[in-house]
Amino acid sequence: MPNIFALYVKVWHPLVANRVSSLDEKLSEHVERVKDALEENSDIEKIVEQVIDSTNSLIREPLVLAPESLKTPVRGYGRNLLYHDPDYDFVVVAMVWPPLEKTSVHDHGTWGVVGVNEGQLNVTNYSREDDGAFPGIAILNELDTISAGEGMATHVFPPEEDIHKVWNSTTDISVSIHTYGKPIYVCNTFDLEEGTFEEMKVSYTS
Ligand SMILES: [Fe+2]
Repeated sequence: MPNIFALYVKVWHPLVANRVSSLDEKLSEHVERVKDALEENSDIEKIVEQVIDSTNSLIREPLVLAPESLKTPVRGYGRNLLYHDPDYDFVVVAMVWPPLEKTSVHDHGTWGVVGVNEGQLNVTNYSREDDGAFPGIAILNELDTISAGEGMATHVFPPEEDIHKVWNSTTDISVSIHTYGKPIYVCNTFDLEEGTFEEMKVSYTS
């Protein structure tokens, strides 16, 4: 006896059908491993460790993404939502980086694991040197820059390891798979020279 509801979702509901068909087997396995990590641990470091392992498995062979998951806006880099977990609230996002494209210096306010699926990316990390006593003021110190090639993963998590920028220093497109602890609609963007920061709204390309 076929599952009538599953059949309805897959065949008759176009929005859900797109989401289901775009979530291929490897991505589904990653989602299950992330759920397990969240269920088994309350310690964020342990969760991130397991999500890094899972991301390494996910991109060991480059993940083949559908064109609708590889969109970029007219300017800037693309943020394509692949999955949002209804129970644990984590998201998996495909980011597409045109040549020489970069982010501002920003934070997320949640843990995140970044795996390079195609090309190469650089991540520069910053520490906050002030005590946060003055609204809109932030003094940052540049820590290190990680250069990650295909199949490599890195991470961020607040508060000490949250502020960073990402850029593609090559003349080819790069694609990365990001797993975040929650959807990110707002982040802080930092001006290093002025020593200030402000809120910035973030949206998905698809
Ligand atoms: Fe980021």
